[in-house]
Amino acid sequence: MSAPISDSVSPAPANAGRRQVLVTSALPYANGQIHIGHMVEYIQTDIWVRALRMHGHEVYYVGADDTHGTPIMLRAEKEGITPKQLIERVWKEHKRDFDSFGISFDNYYSTDAEENRALCNTIYAALQQAGLIEARDIEQAYDPVKEMFLPDRFIKGQCPKCGAKDQYGDNCEVCGSTYQPTELINPYSVVSGATPIRKTSTHYFFKLSDPRCEEFLRGWVSGLAQPEATNKMREWLGDKGEAKLADWDISRDSPYFGFEIPGAPGKYFYVWVDAPVGYYASFKNLADRIGLKFDDWVKPESKAEQYHFIGKDILYFHTLFWPAMLEFSGHRTPTNVFAHGFLTVDGAKMSKSRGTFITAQSVIDTGINPEWLRYYFAAKLNSTMEDIDLNLEDFQARVNSDLVGKYVNIASRAAGFLLKRFEGRVQDSAMNHALLADMRATIPQIAAYYESREYSRALRTTMELADAVNAYVDTAKPWEQAKDPANAVALHETCSVSLEAFRLLSLALKPVLPKLIEQVEAFLGIAPLAWADVAVPLSSGNAINAYKHLTTRVDPKQITALLDANRESLQPGAEAAPVVKAAAPKEEESFISIDDFAKVDLRIAKIVDCKAVEGSDKLLQLTLDVGEEKTRNVFSGIKSAYKPEDLVGKLTVMVVNLAPRKMKFGLSEGMVLAASAANEKAEPGLYILEPHSGAKPGMRVK
Ligand code: MSP
Ligand code: ZN
Repeated sequence: MSAPISDSVSPAPANAGRRQVLVTSALPYANGQIHIGHMVEYIQTDIWVRALRMHGHEVYYVGADDTHGTPIMLRAEKEGITPKQLIERVWKEHKRDFDSFGISFDNYYSTDAEENRALCNTIYAALQQAGLIEARDIEQAYDPVKEMFLPDRFIKGQCPKCGAKDQYGDNCEVCGSTYQPTELINPYSVVSGATPIRKTSTHYFFKLSDPRCEEFLRGWVSGLAQPEATNKMREWLGDKGEAKLADWDISRDSPYFGFEIPGAPGKYFYVWVDAPVGYYASFKNLADRIGLKFDDWVKPESKAEQYHFIGKDILYFHTLFWPAMLEFSGHRTPTNVFAHGFLTVDGAKMSKSRGTFITAQSVIDTGINPEWLRYYFAAKLNSTMEDIDLNLEDFQARVNSDLVGKYVNIASRAAGFLLKRFEGRVQDSAMNHALLADMRATIPQIAAYYESREYSRALRTTMELADAVNAYVDTAKPWEQAKDPANAVALHETCSVSLEAFRLLSLALKPVLPKLIEQVEAFLGIAPLAWADVAVPLSSGNAINAYKHLTTRVDPKQITALLDANRESLQPGAEAAPVVKAAAPKEEESFISIDDFAKVDLRIAKIVDCKAVEGSDKLLQLTLDVGEEKTRNVFSGIKSAYKPEDLVGKLTVMVVNLAPRKMKFGLSEGMVLAASAANEKAEPGLYILEPHSGAKPGMRVK
């Protein structure tokens, strides 16, 4: 049977150096679908967890849905169901998506659980005990109709800087300026439309400004793995004595979907309190189920390690609030927090109108193998917070060339001869081939790359090995060797070396492609691969099984279908609808999306001059001020309706991003808008648009 190869890498004896590791990914909100941006994080974490498990460490990976808060409460109301019904449905959807992407949670739970309530209460009581909770009256926006306090994102109004309508309470999407919600002109509640009033209420604060917190965090920050994260934190902490940390408002008033604060009727824990505690709740639920001692993992003397994978947008919560909450409530603090960047698709933010806001479900529905995405993301991921881009063309090329061209083909080429000519058994002496020795020496380095979250390096190194194997096969030419029976031994060697090489490549790829490698293990007739198996080669004692194709190429049609599916499934109001594959009904085809409309740049224009055009009985020549440095020249077919002098000084609306048009009389740099009847012959008359008073040249019309 298989004997460990002596002089390469010796497997660690069982249990020696066995680490206890608790790992989490951020808890996704329970009010929307999982999309491929989320998946970057779950895939990143899952690869890490799997790589650690392959060392034989005791690793638990827990997650949960983040179920509390105002948006979820309101969303349920809109759907006419209770928040509990909503979160139960979404939990199933999320769980389904994680399962299809091979995310190997040991427990996937919910923050709306009794374990979580109990833990929140304990932590809160300890913080109170430590003198770190303070009640304070604050004034806030209140919806007098809906009778609830309004979070900033539920207040809209006119931008105080540019006057744009329907802008959120803290920043204007039109002019980009930021401001306080109180500065909005004509503010209104998104929930009821009512004008918010100011109302006072008692809130509970976690005193992050307490010198103990600052001191603790200053020390804790030095242990962070990512320099970018450390720098961010130093920025937040400021210089010693600068007292930059503000107290954190941890309570919300009823109505709120969440946990009521003990001893404070009508007050609820803010969702960002019970969300990270949800990591512990999920683990507690697991520990109780499988007989682990929860305290051994979460008390300060714990020998276990604790890691949180998160996106860079929620660093603040994980590197300030969460460690401080733990530290001052008698818990151990995280060993590290690993933040990643954001996913873009084809170089741009995911967009519903382009179909690049890709849900996990749509990936499955269009027959795209989630492991291809795992591979692609891994090939791009490193240990930094840089954003990563999914370039759909590159995605196809990479999967097809690496996974199919370089990796899977090695097995399909070797297996045929081995099965036909050698009863599916390798030649044992071939297992000492120099190529294999090199590969075995490299694999621990690959395992280390995974652990340091340098996945792109791990895969680059693996593909370099695959290149070496392919070069070996190309030189040995088994298809030539097979022609002459006298070469049987040589052919056997070639196929044995390539198949063992394939086994080693499979080992290196296993954290990324767990399902594929499971098929490989079945094909090779071997036990689940772990890192120590680098030294346990294939053996003639075990015949391999019939080769079944392992993975297919990405078909460009699948990509088109994927984009189409997401364009359709994410029309406004249909966010949770299943992916519709059939074409949209006819009437819909005349609709454009809001993004299509937004492409037309309409501006208020002042007619600073207007002249008749010599030689034309239709055109007037307008000089327009649209708030730019230079005026614009526009020829407009409105001579039949207006005298030039009547238009000078008037405001109108102009399309400013129309491609300039060369006309007989000169260049026309846009178009002014005018109304006319559908049948102009039957009902003549032309009316240029004029805004209400107050509009200024250059203002955007939406
Ligand atoms: N519920 C909070 C986390 C609470 S953790 C105690 C939350 N939820 S989320 O659904 O908005 O995001 C979940 C995770 O997915 C976050 O870490 C977030 O950074 C990540 N991502 C969401 N969109 C992403 C991309 N487009 N790209 C990469 N990661 C992204 O935040
Ligand atoms: Zn503005």
